[in-house]
This record gives sequence, structure tokens and C-alpha cells, in this order.
Amino acid sequence: MEVIIQPNKEAAAALVARIVAHELRANPHLVLGLATGQTMECLYRHLVRLHQTENLDFSLCRTFNLDEYVGLFPADPNSYRYYMNHHLFRHVNVDIRNTHLPNGLATNLNEECLRYEATIKGFGGIDLQILGIGKAGHIGFNEPLSALHSRTRVKALTPTTLKQNAGAFGGEDKMPRRAITMGVGTILECHRCVLLATGDSKARVIAQAVEGPITSMISATALQLHPRATVVVDEEAASELREKDYYRWIFDNEPEWEHLR
Ligand code: F6R
Repeated sequence: MEVIIQPNKEAAAALVARIVAHELRANPHLVLGLATGQTMECLYRHLVRLHQTENLDFSLCRTFNLDEYVGLFPADPNSYRYYMNHHLFRHVNVDIRNTHLPNGLATNLNEECLRYEATIKGFGGIDLQILGIGKAGHIGFNEPLSALHSRTRVKALTPTTLKQNAGAFGGEDKMPRRAITMGVGTILECHRCVLLATGDSKARVIAQAVEGPITSMISATALQLHPRATVVVDEEAASELREKDYYRWIFDNEPEWEHLR
């Protein structure tokens, strides 16, 4: 796992956008895994800017989102389909037919989960997966006790997640209690993953995810098992990491990161 510390949330999101751009330019057919949430809004702003100012081309890439609420229509402003259209897809030249999210309205949700997995596999797997992290350590909606080998499935959201996301719904009682999410095992199969976390509310869980023991209670700790996982944080989210100076030294000196410095 590599940790990159940036001075603030804009710089952290800009760096992740540059990683996406680098991979997309190297492989225009990139299969890109995407996340939603407040942290990602900043990343998508930077990607839109790269599309507008540097012609970053999304026309051949395919995208797969990590998750979607059960029971929300795509036109519902709280659905992740709506979020993705609003923050990214309609501002860049992605072919909307190449953008995939689980269908939280499927009559048979278990079959939908299998279909989603098969579609990912059909495109050869995810090349680059972007991840955020919940305050209780989830990636996607892999809530505490998600098996580290879990596949795409329906998960019940924990009280912490309900509280974290309730604002947009106008209260916990108005939000779906279940979501379809890629499993931890599904996520670990991607070729490369980049987790973006910003703000002091993520400091504790980032320290646990990066430097703590691997546990299904904090699904982000499973990224320690991934051969190519990068965690990009701002100073606030990095504040509880013990080995900050070491991570900084690596980023400043390793030739691999030359193109991002
Ligand atoms: C949603 C997802 C979640 C979020 C996480 C952080 O697609 O993958 O794991 O990344 O809940 O959300 P924010 O950025 O709103 O704190």
C-alpha cells in the first residue's frame, strides 16, 4: 500500500484526477470503477476540468460504480445514477451506454448482483477502482463484518452509514436501509485501486485502515492485501497516521511518482 499526503482536499482530489487521466491516456478502453459521496464531488470537478482543458477523452472507457441504493429510481436525486450523471457523466464525453451501476429496482436483487458481477467479468475486470471510505471504514457499502471474500450483494446499512448519508434525504427515516454493493472480494480483484479521503472526520478511520490490523469490521483494511493500492489523503485525514514522514519520503523520492509530483 502507498500513502500520498497532499496539503488540502483540492490538491488530494487533483492528484487522484491525474492518476485517472494517466491511466486513461495509457489505455483509452480503461474499465474504471467509480464511487459516490461528498469526497468524490471534488474529484469529479477535477476530471471535468481535465476533459475541458486538456481534452481528457472518456469516449472509449467503461465505468462501473461500486453501489446503488435499493428502491430508488434513476431520476431520484438521491440515487447514485443521478449523482453520477449530475457530477460527471453529463459533463464529459463518456458514452452513457458504457456507464454501469447496479439496478436497485430489479425485481430479483440477487440475480441483479450476479448479473453485475458477470458484466464486470465480461469486460475483463476493473482496471482502476476509485474508492472513498465511510466513517466506520466501509468501502462501497461493505459495512462492518463484510466477508473479505464477499461478492456483489445486498447489504443492510449500519446506523453510522444511515447517519452519515441521511442529510441528503432529509432524515434517516426517509432513506433506503439497503443497497447493492460490490463485495470486498470483487473490489480486491481490480488491477489497481486508489482510495481518496479528506477531512479530519476521516483521520481515525484512515489510521485504522492503513496501519491497523486487517479486520472485516473495517472493510478498507482489506486493501492491505491488494498488490497495488494507493491511499491519497489531505493533511487532516492523515493527522492520525504514525508513519507520515516515511510516506512523504517515498512519494518525494520514488521514481514511480515522478509524473505526479
Ligand atoms: C459510495 C461509496 C462509499 C463512500 C463513503 C464516503 O459509492 O463508495 O463508500 O465513498 O461512504 O462518503 P463521503 O465521501 O460522503 O464521506
